[in-house]
Amino acid sequence: MALQEFLQELDQLVTEAKSSFSDAADMDALEASRIEFLGAKNGRLKSAQKMMGGIDKPDKPEAGKTFNATKQAIEAAFEEASERLASGGGGDVDSTFDASLPGSAFRIGRLHPITQTIEELKDIMGRLGFSVADGPEIEDIRHNFEALNIPNEHPARDPLDNFYLATAGLGDDVLPQWLMRSQTSTVQIRVMETTPPPVRIISLGRVYRPDTADATHYPMFHQMEGLWIDENVTMSDLKTVLRLFATSYLGGDVSIRFRPSFFPFTEPSVEADYYWNDQWIEFGGAGMVDPNVLKEVGYDPEEVTGFAFGLGVERLCMRRHGVTDIREFYKNDVRFLEQF
Ligand code: PHE
Repeated sequence: MALQEFLQELDQLVTEAKSSFSDAADMDALEASRIEFLGAKNGRLKSAQKMMGGIDKPDKPEAGKTFNATKQAIEAAFEEASERLASGGGGDVDSTFDASLPGSAFRIGRLHPITQTIEELKDIMGRLGFSVADGPEIEDIRHNFEALNIPNEHPARDPLDNFYLATAGLGDDVLPQWLMRSQTSTVQIRVMETTPPPVRIISLGRVYRPDTADATHYPMFHQMEGLWIDENVTMSDLKTVLRLFATSYLGGDVSIRFRPSFFPFTEPSVEADYYWNDQWIEFGGAGMVDPNVLKEVGYDPEEVTGFAFGLGVERLCMRRHGVTDIREFYKNDVRFLEQF
């Protein structure tokens, strides 16, 4: 066999093998090409090697050298193709990608229903001229009780009704000085201590009471406290604000009523109810701020008067959305939470 012919044959082999390997769309096709060109028994490279026997002796060194180069080129082309397929590139079109499949949906997060309610209550009260104040959830007994006219022997201070913080190691006669606040009325004191009248604030946040959880009780819940102190603030202002608030949040068909009640920090005191869907529902306590409280924070009860109220946030949210069990809010079950 003439050398020239043999070299052409090898050249042709490299060209064909390269295009066969790079056309392979998957591993099976590549394997078929490998057997065709590099197969140890009947591969085309093997056949070319056999042809070398017919080359004239003086041409043999060159034929051998070129054959080796050809073999290396074909093997390199094969390696390249198998790396391409292994890294997911199936050729020009990715055979694993189906453009007709539906996309995977994202789960969009949302605000907790109580957070949403709080935002809405702030908005309504903001339009009535109330700004937002804040206070700590761990309180001292002065802000939770004493300054609110709740003396030491008052049943509201009972350890069974409050989450006092441990005094272990401080001695038997040491009364607890700190607790998880049981009401947001603490913020009334904190605001009045630091702000001269007039004040018109609301404060929304968590309160804590050791109640057993059931459909309407939970050991932690939220209150909205309201406080308006100025010259000549009256009980009718209180009723107007609560009525406007109730109709804004629950709808124009809601009416409210006051029932006489008692709180140490208001005089007179009332329970406020709203009427909706054929029943009266209690939505919080309220009253005119007791002169003792005004004096305690350095206000002059002869010059200013005011009202305060404290409403349960969960209760409002439950009524609004038809939620029948307060525990649902705190189970963290996405199927419940994603409905809001
Ligand atoms: N702090 C009272 C409670 O938690 C509610 C209240 C607030 C009553 C303000 C009167 C005035 O029950």
